[in-house]
Order: sequence, then C-alpha cells, then structure tokens
Amino acid sequence: MSANVGQERAYAKINLSLDVLGKREDGYHELSMVMETVDLADTLTFKHEGAGLRVESQISFLPTDRTNLAVAAALAFQKATGRAVEPLIIEMDKRIPVCAGTAGGSSDAAATLRYLNQVTGANLSLQALQAIGETIGSDIPYCLMGGTALAEGRGERLTALPPLPKCAVVLCKPNFPISTGMLFGELDRCKIRRRPDTTGILAALEAGDLQGVARRLYNVFEDVLQPRQKRTVEGIKNTLVGEGALGAAMTGTGPTVFGLFDDETLAQNAYKTLAEDYPSTFLCHTL
Ligand code: C5P
Repeated sequence: MSANVGQERAYAKINLSLDVLGKREDGYHELSMVMETVDLADTLTFKHEGAGLRVESQISFLPTDRTNLAVAAALAFQKATGRAVEPLIIEMDKRIPVCAGTAGGSSDAAATLRYLNQVTGANLSLQALQAIGETIGSDIPYCLMGGTALAEGRGERLTALPPLPKCAVVLCKPNFPISTGMLFGELDRCKIRRRPDTTGILAALEAGDLQGVARRLYNVFEDVLQPRQKRTVEGIKNTLVGEGALGAAMTGTGPTVFGLFDDETLAQNAYKTLAEDYPSTFLCHTL
C-alpha cells in the first residue's frame, strides 16, 4: 500500500441488552445498554487524492457527502484539531448492513477518527477522540472503544465489562426499514412493559457465564414494533432458538435480530436456514 493510502476495519456491534430509562430535556433518551463487538466489518481505504472529502462505496444509496457519518466525523476532527484532512476519499467496502441497528455508520465514523488521529499525528487520547465522536452520533464513542461495555447516558458514558465468552453470532436483518426517531417516539407514547435484566447480565459477564447472558438478552424496542414487524422479529428469534441459539434478541433500534451460539455447526445451520428467506443474514463471531 502506498504512503498515500491507509486502511482501517470498522466492526459491527450488537446490543446484549437495551433499556430506555426516560426522556431527557435535550430530547435524547437516557439509555442503559450492554454492547458487544462482532467481527462482521466494513473495510475503509483512505486515499489522499482528488479534491475535497467524500465517500465511495458499492451501495448506491449510501450518502457520500457530510450526511455520511464518516465525512461528518472527518470534518469534526478537522475543526477540533486544526489539522487539514482534505483531499480525502474514504472508500468503503460495506459488509455491515445499513440502517440495521448494528452501528455500521457509527463504526465507519469511529474508524475514520482513529485513522485521522494517527495519520495527521494529532495523537489525541481515546477520550478526546470520543468527545469529537459524540458530537456526530451517540454510538461513536462506544465504537471507538469496542469490546464488551455498558453504555449509559446518551450512550456515551462507557464502562468496560469482562468480555463476553467467545461465541458464534448469527445476524439476520429482515426486509423492512425502521426509523430510529420514530421508534423512540413510539416508546415515549407507551408504558414499557418488560425491561432487560441488566444487573443479571452484568453478573453473568462477571462469572464468564455465556448461557446466563444469552438467556437474558432483551431490547425494549422489540415491544413497540408494528404488529407485522414484531411477528417477523419474533419469527426470526424463534428460528434462531429452534436451531440451537442460547438466546436471541433484536439489536439497537433494529430491525436486525441476532442469536448467540456456543456450537459452530448449529450456528452454520441457523445461518443457512435464515439465509433462505433473508438475504441479509451473516455468521460471525465475537471479537
Ligand atoms: O445520536 P444519534 O444521531 O445516533 O441519534 C439518532 C436519533 O436517535 C436521535 O435523533 C434521537 O431521536 C434518538 N436517540 C435518542 N436518545 C439517545 C440516542 C439516540 O433519543 N440516547
């Protein structure tokens, strides 16, 4: 690779739990989420050529300008550090599904910040980089950190947790889009009937108990989906568990559903079964 080109991998995340504790005065919601990084990843190639700053990818509908979180992050980095980042083409080989609750856009932004921090010689601390990321999106600070973590506040207050024991993860994105803003709005209108047992998940992580984590997977957004969406999500969860997943849940604001497996063959079979109906199905592993 020439000196004028750099590369970073941007990993997807799943929510082992997602709880919404209330609405804040700034319009955001107070969250409590246990996050986990998986090895499904986009590859970002940074080319210092052309003019300006833009994204290129194989996905026709992916924004290429500052409405892409990676471009927004690069501009925020430039503003915060005074280091010029242009000209820059961010070439994305997208593997993480788009608008799927798996933090693909946030992870691309985090990878861009990591790369620029190193290539410009700014050498900001992780905390300083997270502070820039937070101005662009609530999941970016976590994506900069990665691993197993408790995310609170807007999602930016992070505590590293004992790692989830290694396991296979089958991800399956149903064929309908979900609007994050609308789903938060839906949650504001109704009473949350079931919440994840976050304390139980933290204790299971402490004990290295994969099954204990897996049987507690839950996301409050599952309960506010439209009836048809809910049926689809429940159907995928049932398939995953029927194929031997230790537990299954929706991640983020969805619609992607995932299952955790301690048996590789069972995970492969579940992957094959779901891929017949859902083209956006992936078999990956915790990182
Ligand atoms: O921060 P980010 O741009 O990723 O958030 C997208 C949307 O999700 C926000 O505009 C808001 O509607 C909602 N959100 C929220 N509370 C959070 C995080 C996100 O209400 N803690």
